[in-house]
Amino acid sequence: MIQCVVVVFTLFCPVAFPVKHSLIFSLTASSGVRDIPEFLGSVLVDEVQAGYCDSNIKTAEPKVDWMRKFMKENPQQLEWYVNKCIESQHFFRATIDSLVKRLNQTTGAHILQRMSGCEWDDETGEIRGYIQYGYDGEDFIALDLQTLTWIASKPEAFITKLRWDADQAELDDYKYYYVHLYPDWLKKYVQYANSSLQRTDLPSVSLLQKTPSSPVTCHATGFYPDRADLFWRKDGEELHEDVDKGEILPNHDGTFQMSVDLNISLIAPEDWKKYDCVFQMSGVKDDIITKLDKSVIRTNWVPPSVFPAGAVIGVVVGLLLLLLCITGLFMWRKKTNGFRAANTSDSADRHSDPN
Ligand SMILES: *[C@@H]1O[C@H](CO)[C@@H](O)[C@H](O)[C@H]1NC(C)=O
Ligand SMILES: *[C@@H]1O[C@H](CO)[C@@H](O)[C@H](O)[C@H]1NC(C)=O
Ligand SMILES: *[C@@H]1O[C@H](CO)[C@@H](O)[C@H](O)[C@H]1NC(C)=O
Repeated sequence: MIQCVVVVFTLFCPVAFPVKHSLIFSLTASSGVRDIPEFLGSVLVDEVQAGYCDSNIKTAEPKVDWMRKFMKENPQQLEWYVNKCIESQHFFRATIDSLVKRLNQTTGAHILQRMSGCEWDDETGEIRGYIQYGYDGEDFIALDLQTLTWIASKPEAFITKLRWDADQAELDDYKYYYVHLYPDWLKKYVQYANSSLQRTDLPSVSLLQKTPSSPVTCHATGFYPDRADLFWRKDGEELHEDVDKGEILPNHDGTFQMSVDLNISLIAPEDWKKYDCVFQMSGVKDDIITKLDKSVIRTNWVPPSVFPAGAVIGVVVGLLLLLLCITGLFMWRKKTNGFRAANTSDSADRHSDPN
């Protein structure tokens, strides 16, 4: 039923169009850090990881469907990325080695990072490219693409600046890449990804519970972009107590998920209907509302079985049914005729009722 609701909303949901697009190359090299590859590279388009490479896999690979399709149709560009991955790996290795030596840091863990890329405003057409390096978590050196000079962020970077400023051919390459080539790629990527990036995906929302006494988790998965909120309401008011809200987490397919728990231990069964879980997305008019209802809660919980043999269960069920009939009759009588102490009642009942 929840899925039907989601399908209906998807058909009518307005589509959000971001204006500023970004292409980011994020490269990281480490020395003396165990458990991660020496070199890692990611390409992000509008902040979604679209490609990846590292020194273990020794190649570059697309990470999202539209990029796979793009690379299939533009194999020379995939080849470019594969070569660049290996080339950058050597360059980073050499740079970090020479830094470690020059700064007398021959022991310990060190990390060299480069964030570079370009932004494109698809309304004004404005383009901005940038390259900046960080070393051990601090700004190190950045390129000013207007003047084509490196700017040292700390004294230790000054020697690097002098060396890199001297390489005019490389500087001209950077200008070409970050002001012309990469923005062109970004425009192509955006066009290609149009249907997948400039979209609004609504999630499927479900209620989950481990055991009948555990909190009820409202879980929304498959939404895009991540400008969304998920919360519990009572009588239409957002609840801040007895709830435990998780963070928005990325899924492998570029969509997002989040969940929020409601502690139901103090909620009386007759009050359940006052509660609902709301998924809200910026730019989308209709919220997805899921009522707190036992019948829609998904659980793997199986009541622990006490009597293993079928025959015994049959007898017990028979007895239980009989007991239910008697109790039912008893209760019904209690309601309609007023309660009279009878042989079937137990002592507690007798004491609590003056009749
Ligand atoms: C590194 O060590 C060398 C030799 O001990 C010394 O001359 C140099 O000043 C040191 N450099 C730094 C940045 O500490
Ligand atoms: C994305 O697609 C829509 C509809 O097909 C189109 O109107 C829009 O111009 C496209 N945007 C870009 C940046 O290509
Ligand atoms: C739920 O609330 C009850 C009563 O306040 C508390 O004892 C219990 O620890 C809570 N459970 C969780 C999972 O927070």
